[in-house]
Amino acid sequence: MATERTYIMVKPDGVERGLVGEIIKRFENKGYQLLALQMIKPTKELLEEHYTDLKEKPFFPGLIKYMSAGPVVGMVWIGKDIVKVGRRLLGETNPLASNPGTIRGDFGIDVGRNLCHGSDSPDNAEREISLWFPNGVVQWDPTENNMTQK
Ligand code: PPS
Repeated sequence: MATERTYIMVKPDGVERGLVGEIIKRFENKGYQLLALQMIKPTKELLEEHYTDLKEKPFFPGLIKYMSAGPVVGMVWIGKDIVKVGRRLLGETNPLASNPGTIRGDFGIDVGRNLCHGSDSPDNAEREISLWFPNGVVQWDPTENNMTQK
């Protein structure tokens, strides 16, 4: 079980509905550690880069429009198996298919307003962290016994 990082983002509907604290609480309650957090109104270009693998999907233009509608809160989290377990905390892409107890299962009903994003693989997590936090993230490194920037 690897200690890894992931990129979790509260989408504009989650920010508008005041769910930032709730989403942070669920990751903290699980035992994960928050490394970085920013509120940002993303440009279309940043979103197109973030969702670059989805360019050919029919929902792509709608997804970019929805994500551009307001500020998002992007976070870097670290912990054991966090990419997979983090997505379990979020629930299924479609909130209607998400179990109660998950974020989307408890708070959503619409796939086009599904509240939050979580990286789908450790490689994508690192790609997304570099994209959204281009200056790197400062974190405690217990093996070096000091702070490192990564
Ligand atoms: S796919 O088709 O399998 O690649 O889709 P999936 O991996 O489930 O989702 C990838 C991201 O696209 C978002 N998505 C949608 N947005 C708007 N409308 C529709 N219909 C839709 N379907 C999928 C989905 O929420 C994923 O974004 P993130 O930010 O990762 O949640």
